Amino acid sequence: MKIALGVSGGIACYKAAEIVRRLQDQGHDVVVLMTRGATQFVTPLTFRALSGNKVYVDMFEGQSSGSDFEGAFDHILVAQSVDLFLVAPASADCMARLAAGIADDFLTTFHLAVTAPVVIAPAMNTRMWQHPSVQANLKTLASRGVRIIDPEVGQMACRTHGPGRLAPVETIVDCVTSLLKRSRDLEGRRILVTAGPTVEDIDPVRYISNRSSGKMGFAIARAARDRGASVVLVSGPTELDFPGAIRVRTTEEMRQAVLENANDADVVIKAAAPLDFRPKSVSAQKIKKRDASLSLELEPTTDILKELGARKNGKVLVGFAAETENGLKNGLEKLKAKNLDFIVVNPVGGPDSAFDSDINRATIINASGQTEEIPPVTKQVMADKILDRVLKLLK
Ligand SMILES: Cc1cc2nc3c(=O)[nH]c(=O)nc-3n(C[C@H](O)[C@H](O)[C@H](O)COP(=O)(O)O)c2cc1C
Repeated sequence: MKIALGVSGGIACYKAAEIVRRLQDQGHDVVVLMTRGATQFVTPLTFRALSGNKVYVDMFEGQSSGSDFEGAFDHILVAQSVDLFLVAPASADCMARLAAGIADDFLTTFHLAVTAPVVIAPAMNTRMWQHPSVQANLKTLASRGVRIIDPEVGQMACRTHGPGRLAPVETIVDCVTSLLKRSRDLEGRRILVTAGPTVEDIDPVRYISNRSSGKMGFAIARAARDRGASVVLVSGPTELDFPGAIRVRTTEEMRQAVLENANDADVVIKAAAPLDFRPKSVSAQKIKKRDASLSLELEPTTDILKELGARKNGKVLVGFAAETENGLKNGLEKLKAKNLDFIVVNPVGGPDSAFDSDINRATIINASGQTEEIPPVTKQVMADKILDRVLKLLK
């Protein structure tokens, strides 16, 4: 496979040379893109000699002279030819430019043109790493599906100790290898994913909802898309991005959108947390503040998952159960009642709560009732674990 390795300006640049070698040992073709900062630490010649490929630094190098205009569109052509884009080390400055969509050198322009999965391995001084703007950029990149290989805690070149040191080369190479192994294994599959909460109005200014952030469903949608599936995402109100997502508000709107798209899907993964109840009537006017208590009468909404389970037609159907207690018992009952292929049971409430967290732990129960524990992992990793199981069922 072909890998673009972006190298930005930090003291850990010298480790990128080892990354090139280790990826080549695995049979990959590596093309290196360097920021101008990176060239202060290691010369392009080092990477030219190691990779055997042209090293890209400038956008405009030699393009205004000569007759053939060769390489003028390499930022597009090379971007289209790679299977993965890894930035290691990713400096604070480089991450900021990637997060802002700036395209002022070859690496950052390439980033906007690449459609392959993007992985970054940040490395910097601990105080820089902990700075709110660095953390905000990290969040932005992660929310767009960029895989982050967290730096490790250790002794830094600046003689301080803390988080910020580039993850070990083996960790980076393992992450790339497992991503590439999975890459495109869902090609040709149509996957419908739901995410987020729903909202039910009480009056024109108030509503009831729940704490679902949508992060798990969006992570599944992104991972499935990166693995080649054609993905339809139906989401309740969240701040997360996914191109083409169908946005809904109420459980009934979610139900309609799901049923409209379910027939064409090979797989339906219901990671959303639609409300089970809605106010029996919605007040046309704002309910006025008063001293007396107020009772809301709620009625059940339609159970979307159950409806899907009753008309499964050979689809793989995956559900989620967010439970505060008796997770296994409740999960197993839900699995059977809704005719699911497997269910992912998450704890909610307390320190391990799956809601609005980037980390998730789960018990997966399959159709024969066998269970498997998934220890706390990022929702990105959890998404791939769920899709690995879906793939086995499809095969
Ligand atoms: C000796 C030295 C070491 C540096 N190490 C790092 C580092 O590990 N991480 C980082 O984000 N910036 C580091 N910097 C600062 C960057 O090189 C600087 O912000 C530069 O603008 C990075 O730009 P670029 O990565 O976009 O090329 C270091 C600077 C110097 C002089």
